[in-house]
Amino acid sequence: MCGIVGYVGYQNAVDILLDGLKHLEYRGYDSSGIALMSNGEIKVYKALGKLQNLVDTMKKEKITSCNTGIGHIRWATHGLPTLANAHPHSCNCKGLTLVHNGIIENYQEIKETLIKNGAIFKSQTDTEVAAQLIAFEYGKTNDLVQAVSSAVSKLKGAWAFCVMHKNEPETIVATRKNAPLLIGAGENENFLSSDIAAIIKYTKKAIYLNDGQITKISKDKIQIFNEDLTPASNRMEILPFEAHSLSKMGYKHFMLKEIHEQPDVVRNILQDKIKDEISDIALNGVNLDINSLKKINRIQIIACGTSLHAGLVGKYVIEDLTGIPVSVEASSEYIYRRSIADENTLVIGISQSGETADTITAIKQVKEKGAHVLIITNRKESLLSRLSDSLFHINAGIEVSVAATKSYTAQLVSIYLLGIFIAQTLNMDKKRIQEIKHELLTLPSKLEAVLSGELTIKKLAKKYSGFKNFIFIARGINYPTALEGALKLKEISYINATGYPAGELKHGPIAMLDETMPVLAILNKGIVYDKVMSNCEEAYARQAKLIGVANEIDERHKELFDDFVIIPPVSDIVSPALNVTVLQLFAYFIAEYLGKDVDQPRNLAKSVTVE
Ligand code: F6R
Repeated sequence: MCGIVGYVGYQNAVDILLDGLKHLEYRGYDSSGIALMSNGEIKVYKALGKLQNLVDTMKKEKITSCNTGIGHIRWATHGLPTLANAHPHSCNCKGLTLVHNGIIENYQEIKETLIKNGAIFKSQTDTEVAAQLIAFEYGKTNDLVQAVSSAVSKLKGAWAFCVMHKNEPETIVATRKNAPLLIGAGENENFLSSDIAAIIKYTKKAIYLNDGQITKISKDKIQIFNEDLTPASNRMEILPFEAHSLSKMGYKHFMLKEIHEQPDVVRNILQDKIKDEISDIALNGVNLDINSLKKINRIQIIACGTSLHAGLVGKYVIEDLTGIPVSVEASSEYIYRRSIADENTLVIGISQSGETADTITAIKQVKEKGAHVLIITNRKESLLSRLSDSLFHINAGIEVSVAATKSYTAQLVSIYLLGIFIAQTLNMDKKRIQEIKHELLTLPSKLEAVLSGELTIKKLAKKYSGFKNFIFIARGINYPTALEGALKLKEISYINATGYPAGELKHGPIAMLDETMPVLAILNKGIVYDKVMSNCEEAYARQAKLIGVANEIDERHKELFDDFVIIPPVSDIVSPALNVTVLQLFAYFIAEYLGKDVDQPRNLAKSVTVE
């Protein structure tokens, strides 16, 4: 996690660094800091808490004449969120300063050696160890690229570093391993950042560093070196995102804006893939043909958090459409047991950011076993994309709110398309495929209908905002929707919410039900409607307040419910993509009503780049 940014050019570095960090705030926000280099001197400024505190500090400093600097926004891993632990970190003589994203696993042993050589540590971080180590190596060569190279050869873990040394004015040296870092190429100015978002406003030209490569940038020169320090010539890429993705466009929060973008996001994915209900769909980037698919005897889906919930929906969809057995597992669990993936396994990794460390590790493991790796992600330039044999870019546009919304819906739609693609390639039930295509084509307008009813959900959210616990129930393909709705509520309002398969209620959780525990039930008209309704009867008998999310509620059942939200009719299989919008809005309006920091909930970061 954490965000890093670097700038060398002709503009005021303070403005560029603070603006860059603003766009990286979703990566962490425990503390922030910048280091500025001018006249052979490096000065470091830090602030605790939100970035605004650093902005206020820098306003007082009134620095306008510095054109080189590095910045950092922190999500604490080693050491408390204190000023001493905030980045940038420097060596003892303050000649070298760096910012770091990642975790250095062997920092303790290196620290002990450095202490024996006279280093004095002021923080509890692994990052300060890197700063002292690079400075130690610099003492041997007086060359920053060489010093960084020999220092990182001693490290284990994951990192992206931006390093400045006072003897190398108007220059930044940077490197990465298993953590993202890109170079933004400008006119008479160059940038470094852990994410496009920090630099897109200034340049659309980017160069991605490969694992182990080192770069040295000045305002008019970009040099790249391979791990063995031979010169490298990486490809220049044109960045995809428009700056307007980074604006709230009049909405109070990014989360609300992103929820409202969902109809267009779905249209966008479907646009070039489904022409009509009859024609075959085309998935560019998915390198699976009839011969490779015939070999596949099992599918494993690996993901974390919200992406894991999309994977759980994927199990229902792919098994229903293709009959191929699908297992779904949290990446962090998958890594530490014997994997049975082999060359007849299709492994689907789902990740909005494409940077999630647990998913990256799991995917690297299955690649070694010869499985075909298909990645579904919103970041086609990400580390996971680069590991893929097949890539499904969900193209949802940048998602700024830490709580994932539109990327989840886009992941769901991608999974429907993938299921259809596999089924059509294997010549399976054409009629069923056509029905699902029809449902997908009508999904955007149904999403619009749900969004136009948001006032009802807002009122409901206000009514229920005082409760401390919720249970969300559903069955079948909407069980993951219950999990996702509960996760959204927990994440942004800090209210305890648990998702259960409705049939499990009587196997334990029912013990908790009384008038203080609202039950939200997802009741689409379909094969499990009557069953979920019976579970609602059980909850009603225990005085629980009941909220129904349904296409319609029969007259005879209406009295069970304190409240309901009626959504357009939709087939069972596509219903998760519609139902989830109601739950996203419910969570959003509760958090907003309670005055929570919706876009940047406490303790969370958008990209979880540590295991
Ligand atoms: C929840 C959320 C997280 C992520 C999880 C995986 O709103 O965003 O649960 O889904 O950290 O992240 P990605 O999808 O980037 O791998």
